[in-house]
Amino acid sequence: MHPSIAVRGAIARLGLRRYPLGLTYELTWLCNLACSYCDRHVPMRHELGRDQIFAALAEFYDMGMRDVSLDGGEPLAHRHVDEIVEWLVCRRIPVAMNTNGILVRRKLETVRKLALVKISLDGPRAEHDAARGAGSFDHAVDGARAARAAGVRVEFTCTIGRHNVHALEDVLDVAEPLGAPVVFQPALNSLFQGSDRDGSAWQVDGAAVRAALARVETMKRRGRSVGNGWSSLRHFRSVLSTVVVRLAHTPTPSSMSRGV
Ligand SMILES: C[S@@+](CC[C@H](N)C(=O)[O-])C[C@H]1O[C@@H](n2cnc3c(N)ncnc32)[C@H](O)[C@@H]1O
Ligand code: SF4
Repeated sequence: MHPSIAVRGAIARLGLRRYPLGLTYELTWLCNLACSYCDRHVPMRHELGRDQIFAALAEFYDMGMRDVSLDGGEPLAHRHVDEIVEWLVCRRIPVAMNTNGILVRRKLETVRKLALVKISLDGPRAEHDAARGAGSFDHAVDGARAARAAGVRVEFTCTIGRHNVHALEDVLDVAEPLGAPVVFQPALNSLFQGSDRDGSAWQVDGAAVRAALARVETMKRRGRSVGNGWSSLRHFRSVLSTVVVRLAHTPTPSSMSRGV
């Protein structure tokens, strides 16, 4: 955590001054899917209980919490999700949610209170189901339709990996008739910092991911429904080129022995 954030947090905690906080809350790591490239679908050992959740939310609210993004695991699978969303919207806190879409229709009364629902869409049916499991594409599309019909803003999130790097244009072909933009992001080795998990089998290598994001930029320029802002695309471009420059300068054992 950046020191200035820690200081501002401490000031807000002491009640000296409220700060506009955007809270991303991983409600649970429990999930109803087990996508190949994801390592956040095993329940946490000590998930917060109901009272702890509301105590924590109240504390953030008092500190100046301005908006909340619920993530997971699968947030709609959490046993207190209805109450949590209700608690937040009663306090006029806009709530966004990442979901795989499976429970959207069943949880429509809660979903209709959201300011934004972000549904994962990794491709047309074959590519999506290859990573996310048979039937999950139909659920994602059905979830998007149900949320849109309930008047909720929908956005798709597409994680780019080996399963779909060839099909990014097709993701837009699915999303556009549903009236929802697609935000693209490259698959990471792990969703946890410092993890020793090796997720490289699902990632595309540096050159291929740069080429994929260049295609995304081209699609955006052509007016297709790419939800990434230009700043986020520029960020990807600079981060990915930094990674490549670093790799290019990583000393090899032979260069080290030559003193290079
Ligand atoms: C962890 S999921 C939680 C919300 C919900 N279960 C879903 O699938 O949208 C949130 C987002 O993280 C993405 N994700 C999962 N594993 C990832 C990885 N290794 N690298 C980058 N994104 C990943 C998913 O594709 C999804 O869009
Ligand atoms: S990406 Fe989402 S739906 Fe898939 S396993 Fe991870 S948490 Fe579950």
